[in-house]
Amino acid sequence: MKTKSKQLSKLLKSMQFGAMALLCSAILFSCSSGENDATTANTQEESGLAHHAPEAAVEDDGKGVGPVTSVEVGAEVDQALAANGKSIFEGKCSACHQLSDQKVVGPGLAGVTGKRKPEWVMNMIINPEEMTKKDPTAKKLLAEHLTQMTNQNVNEQDARAILEFLRQNDQSI
Ligand code: HEC
Repeated sequence: MKTKSKQLSKLLKSMQFGAMALLCSAILFSCSSGENDATTANTQEESGLAHHAPEAAVEDDGKGVGPVTSVEVGAEVDQALAANGKSIFEGKCSACHQLSDQKVVGPGLAGVTGKRKPEWVMNMIINPEEMTKKDPTAKKLLAEHLTQMTNQNVNEQDARAILEFLRQNDQSI
């Protein structure tokens, strides 16, 4: 009888130990690999987002996304350059854009050189698909107009001429 109760208490003890061990590992497991991971993932995601927002704001220098990072524009409109831009505009842009503030397919372009930086205007002309994906202002325009501006295969030089033409257009209003 004595040995039996000893054995029993031994058994109970080992069962208790086993249960404790099981409980501990269950807690550990749920902490380390379960919820904890999910919370870590969430916080990482959240902090990632929080991190991105100011970054995007810093990145948006108003110059848009594309090859043009810096343009020199004179105080006066270069009339010869603007005339060149006018003929390119008429061939490649006027189907979708008015020079007034009237929308056709795209927004009317009156006042655009006052609203946007010259680099932005040129990047929009040269690189419209990437602009409407990445530039916050161009994204908004796409959301309003619901048509993607097409890439008209305008090189940097011609885009510069169009910019001058749009500057001339804005000076005459
Ligand atoms: C197929 C129609 C289409 C053609 C062709 C087109 N655009 Fe656009 N353009 C748009 C649309 C639509 C938008 C608004 C953004 C969007 O939805 O993609 C836009 C936006 C713009 C903007 C920004 C206007 C603003 O308010 O900031 C400029 C500048 C511009 N286009 C210039 C041009 C020039 C210059 C050409 C010719 C080389 C041209 N576009 C050819 C449709 C067109």
